[in-house]
Amino acid sequence: MIHTICYVSSASRELKENELEKLFYNTQTNNSNANITGALLYYYGNFLQVLEGEKDTLLALFEKIKKDKRHKNIITIFNKQNEHRIFEAYKSGFSIIKTKSDLKNLNEYLNKTKDTTPFSTSVLGLLEPFLI
Ligand SMILES: Cc1cc2nc3c(=O)[nH]c(=O)nc-3n(C[C@H](O)[C@H](O)[C@H](O)COP(=O)(O)O)c2cc1C
Repeated sequence: MIHTICYVSSASRELKENELEKLFYNTQTNNSNANITGALLYYYGNFLQVLEGEKDTLLALFEKIKKDKRHKNIITIFNKQNEHRIFEAYKSGFSIIKTKSDLKNLNEYLNKTKDTTPFSTSVLGLLEPFLI
């Protein structure tokens, strides 16, 4: 069993390109080192993040993320055990979704995995407003 957290939030203020790049870089580096898979998406002032990993590691990280002043209005959609990781086979395990084409690739990948894990369908539903 693996633990999965999924939430949406809004940026506290408009983040500059270099601030976002720093956040993306740190997130990707830290998560790869901590064996955390998932994705972080930023779109017009909103974040959507999926985190998958060992329970205690994830809960500790989520406490840190919730306190981060760069975002607010955090709505937790999923915070529980899951059968298996859905992002393990995707890219390098933890992805930053920046462009329409990143989003399209993720959408295609999740569509392929949705028969093996119902959670993929939930994430696809969340991505839908971003895909328009
Ligand atoms: C929307 C958002 C998502 C974040 N996601 C992660 C993440 O997945 N992993 C991570 O290490 N830090 C993430 N951070 C940054 C953490 O809040 C925190 O700044 C970082 O873990 C560094 O903490 P430390 O200085 O105590 O090591 C995120 C921040 C924001 C605003």
